[in-house]
Amino acid sequence: MDTYILAIESSCDETSMAIVKNGCIDVATVVFSQMTTHANYGGVVPEIASRMHVESITIVLDELLTKANLKMDDITAIAVTYGPGLIGSLLIGLTAAKTLAYIYNKPLIPVHHIAGHIYANNLTKKMEFPLIALVVSGGHTELIYMKEHYSFEKIGGTLDDAVGEAYDKVARVLNLSYPGGPIIDKLAKQGQDVYNLPIPLNDDSFNFSFSGLKSAVINLKHNEEQRGNKVDTANLACSFQNRVISSLTKKTIKALKTYHVQNLIIAGGVSANIGLREAMDKICRENNINLSYPEFKYCTDNATMIGAASYYAYKLGRRADLDLKAMATCKLN
Ligand code: KG4
Ligand code: ZN
Repeated sequence: MDTYILAIESSCDETSMAIVKNGCIDVATVVFSQMTTHANYGGVVPEIASRMHVESITIVLDELLTKANLKMDDITAIAVTYGPGLIGSLLIGLTAAKTLAYIYNKPLIPVHHIAGHIYANNLTKKMEFPLIALVVSGGHTELIYMKEHYSFEKIGGTLDDAVGEAYDKVARVLNLSYPGGPIIDKLAKQGQDVYNLPIPLNDDSFNFSFSGLKSAVINLKHNEEQRGNKVDTANLACSFQNRVISSLTKKTIKALKTYHVQNLIIAGGVSANIGLREAMDKICRENNINLSYPEFKYCTDNATMIGAASYYAYKLGRRADLDLKAMATCKLN
């Protein structure tokens, strides 16, 4: 029998709901992004985000059911992101999920936001194990070893800023708008790697660090301006992005070799980065690694990825009660 899961994601600034069939088919997805509002402030304002979730959540649900041409009777279970994320934002999705589960008497499946990002890959191609997942988003930079479905072993992570966060902060210093990742990616293509920036945490660990690189960009810009020189934004974007990519590719390949793994998936908002995709394509071809990344529309936050992950959690018997709590931080499991 087919499993139709109605999934809800509201951990940051996207109100999203989706219906996913058997963990891999996107029956319908609705994403209401608040990005243009937060762009006015240069980043996500938590209080505004929660208020906007409240305003849009029921509209998103109506739109989803219409789009899917399904009724609540057709739905097997309700899945929801319980963390990590902004508490006020998470609470809106959580309350909607609990209400639907209670009224329609459906099982409630709790999903970790990062599990969702990882399983976005399952919507393109069934994930093959064992695998290494490189999760690169606005809040996370992690290397995760997965022996099988829903088994997550963190083998490395950022010691300070997440990579997407570094992109957004560097973009702000360069007077570019929010979110900075896609803009820097585009500018990097037009520029040249002429600035002398350090490769972050160039050591033998599986950890990352991006705050030093971010500070190096800021210092370089200030120093050049004090000398009366104009910094070339495209060249600086290119130099910054190249250092980020060097760090990500080097550590990821090392992890694949150390764990004797042939399958790599990339996930999270930064997995939309064209420069990163090109570099990973090349290095994976050279090393005989099967590489997969999500479709662009599933890279940034969406409920489809939560629906994909929840199918495997559901099959493992994971259920939540109506007292499920929103968590600002929580371990991936
Ligand atoms: O996964 P996501 O939507 O939210 C979190 O869970 O954090 O990721 C958002 C992040 C932002 O920092 C944004 O700048 C970054 O992903 N991003 C990119 C690109 N597209 C989005 N970073 C680099 N290159 C891109 N093309
Ligand atoms: Zn995310």
